[in-house]
Formats: sequence, C-alpha cells, structure tokens
Amino acid sequence: MAMDIFKITGPARLDGTINVSSSKNAALPIMAATILAGGKNTLIGLPNLSDIAVMGQLMESLGCKKQVVDGNTIFDTSVIDKPFGDYEIVRKMRAGICILGPVLARCGKVEVSMPGGCAIGYRPVDIHVRGLQEMGAKIELKNGYIVAHSNGGLKGANIFLGGAFGSSVLATANILSAAVLAKGKTIIEYAACEPEITDLANCLVKMGAKITGIGSPQLTIHGVKELKPVEYKIIPDRIEAGTFLCAAAITRGKLKLKNCRLDHLWAAVNKLRSMNVRIDEIEDGCEVECDSHIDATDLTTLPYPGFPTDLQAQFMACLSLARGNSVVTEKIFEDRFMHVPELTRMSANLRKEGPHVIISGVEKLTGAPVMASDLRASAALVVAALAAHGETIINRVYHIDRGYEKIEEKLNAVGAKIQRLSI
Ligand code: EPZ
Repeated sequence: MAMDIFKITGPARLDGTINVSSSKNAALPIMAATILAGGKNTLIGLPNLSDIAVMGQLMESLGCKKQVVDGNTIFDTSVIDKPFGDYEIVRKMRAGICILGPVLARCGKVEVSMPGGCAIGYRPVDIHVRGLQEMGAKIELKNGYIVAHSNGGLKGANIFLGGAFGSSVLATANILSAAVLAKGKTIIEYAACEPEITDLANCLVKMGAKITGIGSPQLTIHGVKELKPVEYKIIPDRIEAGTFLCAAAITRGKLKLKNCRLDHLWAAVNKLRSMNVRIDEIEDGCEVECDSHIDATDLTTLPYPGFPTDLQAQFMACLSLARGNSVVTEKIFEDRFMHVPELTRMSANLRKEGPHVIISGVEKLTGAPVMASDLRASAALVVAALAAHGETIINRVYHIDRGYEKIEEKLNAVGAKIQRLSI
C-alpha cells in the first residue's frame, strides 16, 4: 500500500496568513453526543481529517446516517440500532470511547471495544467506567469489550472524576453526555476544564440539556427526558493554532492566524512571550512574530488552563534552537517523548531523564530522515524541519493527517517548501 512522506526543504521564513480549522478534539465528542437526540443534527465546519472520518464510520456502524451538504455534516441519529463499537474501528482511534456515554444513555446498553495501545503511553479507561457505574450502570469487561447496561436507566449521582494526574478530558465528556439524560441531578467534581469540554457542554445546552458550572471543575447537570437535534459550529483548533505559533517562532517569521482564539491558548502564548516571541490579539485571531532569537524557558504540561500536553513536542522543537538551556516536564502522559530521538537526529541536543527532557539550545538544526510516531510528535518534526538546514524526509505522514487539515498546503502558502510524495 502506498504511504505518504513529506520532503521538507529548509530553512524557510514564514510570512502570511493562515486560517485555523475547527477543533478535532472538540468535534469528536460532539459528534458522539448527537446520538443523544434522535433526528438530524448539523455540525458546521467539521475539519477534513482522518480521525473525523473514523468517528463518522463508527457513528454509521451504530445505525446513524451521515451526509455532507455545503461543507456541513448532517448526522441523522433517528435510528441507533446497533449499540456496538467494533474493535476494527475503535483500534484506529482511542476517541472511539466517546460513544460509550451517549449510546448507553440513548439505548440503555452498549458494547465498545477497549481502545488499543497508544504511542504516547499507557492510557487506561477506568475513570470512564467508574463514573458510569456511579450512575447505576452495570459494566463488565468481556473479550476486550466494555459491556455496559444502564440497569433500568442511569441515575444522577455525585461523581469525583479526578485521578493521580488531574482530570480526564474524554471521561468528563462521557459522564457529562450520559448525565444529561439521567434521572435527577448529577454533580461532576474535578471535571476537565478544557475548551473542548466547554464546547461539548455548550452544544448539549443548545440541544436542551440543563448544565451549570460550564468551564469550571464542578459541573451540575439536571437530567432531562429528551434532547432535540442541534445545529452547531465547533470552536477553532487551539492545538493547530499553537503549532502554527511555534512554526512562526522557529522560522523567525511573521504570521496572521485567523479563526484563532487566544483565550484558549494563554499558557502557550505566555510561554512564547517569555521566549521573545511577540503575539498580538486581532479581530478573529492573532499576529505572531519572532524577529531575532528565541530565549530558553522551562515548561510543565498540566490540565487546562495549564500548558497543554498536545503542544509539548512542538515547543520542544522551538526550544532546541533557543539561547540557553530549557527543561520540559511531561505530567499528563509520561512517555510522550517519541519525538526526542527524532529531533536528536536533526542535531537537537536533548537529554531525557524520566518525565523531563533537558534541552541545550543549538545554533542550527539539520535536515534528516525521521519517523512520525504520533500526531503531535509528527507536528514537532514538521516545525523543526521548517527551520532545519537541508532536506528532512518525514515518514508515516498519516499520523499528521489524523489531526492537521492540509498542513502542507497551509504552510506552503506562507513560504514553506513541503512536498507530499507517495512511496
Ligand atoms: C484527550 O485525551 C485528547 N484526545 C488528547 O489529545 C489529549 O492529549 C488529552 O485529552 C490530554 O489533554 C481527544 O480529545 C480526542 P485524558 P484523553 O483522559 O481524554 C489518565 C491529541 O494529540 N487516565 O485527559 O484520552 C491518562 O492515562 C490527543 O490530539 C486514566 O488514568 O486524555 C492520562 O495520564 C492525544 N484513566 C491522563 O489521565 C482514565 O480512565 C489524562 O488523560 C482516563 C485517563
């Protein structure tokens, strides 16, 4: 089977305007949540990504009908007659677990394959299961599947969703989606506060759900009998935007990002400003410029509003060229460092010690053949390759296609030299 690679020739200086796409990670649980309201739901501007296509396939396998009209996607969820998330689909994308709460609430039962292994580390689903059990669901693990029954209907409960690391984003999505149709009141304590969860909650409210505390770690939900289908526009992708901010910084470039919400990106913006990168808010977006050097800084990934783990790799690429030493600490997924050996192949000076990477800034990165391993690690390789001298070949570009819409077209339009080749 042919596989795409990127051939990137650097160094480039980026200059121009990029439109940020809608958020993949907001779209996935919202797509699943349309199952809660039988009828035609319209999602506006879903990004054209392979993860979104896989979720569409999963929804269709449940009985839902999908149609694209004028760039908007209609999910007709009138009939959900196969409450079954097949291993063959869910193994391709962990976010398949998003159907657990909505299908259980709608159909009273569901079987979903346990998500498979993942390049960014061990990712259990115990919090999803525990939250639903506290609402009265009977759940067992059978032959690699989570088999859940609502046991006569889910009931509101007080649910503490924290783990050793903080909150869980998709567990919050699942419990919140299940609670909106449960009998009585649910309080989710230690809910994830990521903008993608806020977007899901706003969409559910538009469908008729009763939720207060949106955006905070305590969500209160008063269950309703039914929800109505919705027309909803997904928020801009803060991680795609953050990746372009890094691309501007590392190339000493100047970009205008449109459809970008800086209020979702304060931790990253604050870091970049401390790295000598100028960022100004403008209507519907921002301007970013780095006209001299990058300064070193330390950063630690944390749940929102802390620094996002999904931008750790891209920042590491920038810090590889900074003046001085930086320490990057990963607190969400402790093994999320697949980019470290690859960036080292491009002459970065990195030393991994447990959950920390110590970065000694170098004068110059050099092009090299490298391997994309997961979505954000691959994005970091693109960012590094833009600044690297010579040619970088990135293999396994399908990882990038999971979460970045036409990344080579967007970057080439502002001065990058990226060729997509099929080998
Ligand atoms: C979401 O994954 C995102 N995925 C990830 O984006 C993101 O990295 C992550 O949140 C953290 O921000 C989507 O939105 C589709 P978690 P999720 O549950 O919800 C532990 C990307 O590149 N945990 O918040 O699966 C877990 O191991 C991706 O776009 C448990 O222990 O992440 C981790 O240490 C990849 N038990 C921590 O919680 C559980 O039941 C946070 O994970 C669930 C999670």
